[in-house]
Amino acid sequence: MATVSAARSVTASAGGRRVRMGLIGLGRMGQIHATALSSRCPSAELACVVDADGKRAADVAARCAVPWSSSVDGLLEDPTVPAVVLATPTATHADLVVRAARAGKHVFCEKPLSLQRSATLSALEAVETAGVKLQVGFHRRFDPDWAAVHDRIVAGELGRPYLFRTSLRDMRAPRVEYLAGSGGFFLDVTIHDLDVARWLVGEIVQISAHGVGLSDPGFAEIGDVDTAVVVLHFENGALGVIDNSRSAGYGYECSTEIMGSSATARIDNPRARNYEWRTPGWAAHELPRDFEQRYPTAYALELEAFATCVRDDSAPRVTGRDALAAFELASAADASWRAGLPVALRALREPAGVRYEYDEPAPGG
Ligand SMILES: NC(=O)c1ccc[n+]([C@@H]2O[C@H](COP(=O)([O-])OP(=O)(O)OC[C@H]3O[C@@H](n4cnc5c(N)ncnc54)[C@H](O)[C@@H]3O)[C@@H](O)[C@H]2O)c1
Repeated sequence: MATVSAARSVTASAGGRRVRMGLIGLGRMGQIHATALSSRCPSAELACVVDADGKRAADVAARCAVPWSSSVDGLLEDPTVPAVVLATPTATHADLVVRAARAGKHVFCEKPLSLQRSATLSALEAVETAGVKLQVGFHRRFDPDWAAVHDRIVAGELGRPYLFRTSLRDMRAPRVEYLAGSGGFFLDVTIHDLDVARWLVGEIVQISAHGVGLSDPGFAEIGDVDTAVVVLHFENGALGVIDNSRSAGYGYECSTEIMGSSATARIDNPRARNYEWRTPGWAAHELPRDFEQRYPTAYALELEAFATCVRDDSAPRVTGRDALAAFELASAADASWRAGLPVALRALREPAGVRYEYDEPAPGG
């Protein structure tokens, strides 16, 4: 890696200064984070970029005017960079979290932390042992609309929650190489909705997942689905329903509704542009096509929050234990889909956070 000059080494730590961050992984999500860190996060400074694909790293580095490398080694040894942002494929996350934590770096990691429970726990242990911070990429918690609804629910304005409904639908499926390493639909996509279900409504006691692959025979070939419905029973008695699609066709949708005894909150799919084109009997408006168009503010705010918590030594708003809980819920959804049976969950409250347990569903058991 081109050496970072010593003169730029002290921008981290004290209040008001920028936390230097190394960004690892520069695909779809990494390039969104590169843009956010370069221009939309006042408390962060993009120090360098790393991607296994050197050409990609060089291209992004040129755009952001920072050093680049195709290896993480130099970044992990660089004492002028206290934090890393991981946007590599999911299968690499846990190992990189462990390496970064052992190198004393604070870590922002894209969801999910891992596709295995044991590796997720090892990553959390490494973070705790090193005493570094870990924030996981559940960006909706930072979107101003979702955060405002959350705050009003916490303030008691919704009353007793009755019904939670959320839709997360991609316009079209990602590359097959991505799908093959994604951990499957529930761990890759539904995990976002399961995190917001906990955040907005509460812990979950039963999950029942249904999935089919309809838009492309390739989904069945890799043992995955592209369309799913997940029914939730919450501890507080509320019901929930999540619907997900890889191939909605019309656009990217991420909407929700929470109905309660005092109010109903609804976050609809916003428009990509704030105008309508009206013709006789019709009004048309442009929809977001992907998560980048829908959530640029949330992606910037989550990294700004991470930088702030590193700089001010405060707790991240989405913790490693939140990532573990969402992982366990998504695994339970996957198990439910495979067995064709509901899965009962136990939410165990521990000092570090909630941990879920469930028994593998056994047909006829
Ligand atoms: N929060 C969200 O809304 C959201 C959206 C999409 C993806 N994601 C997550 O982001 C992660 C990345 O997804 P993506 O769609 O950007 O993937 P991608 O395949 O588009 O990009 C991954 C990049 O990482 C690079 N890479 C692979 N192994 C590496 C290594 N060991 N070191 C350095 N670089 C390496 C690849 O060359 C590639 O450029 C996944 O974990 C995914 O779940 C999150």
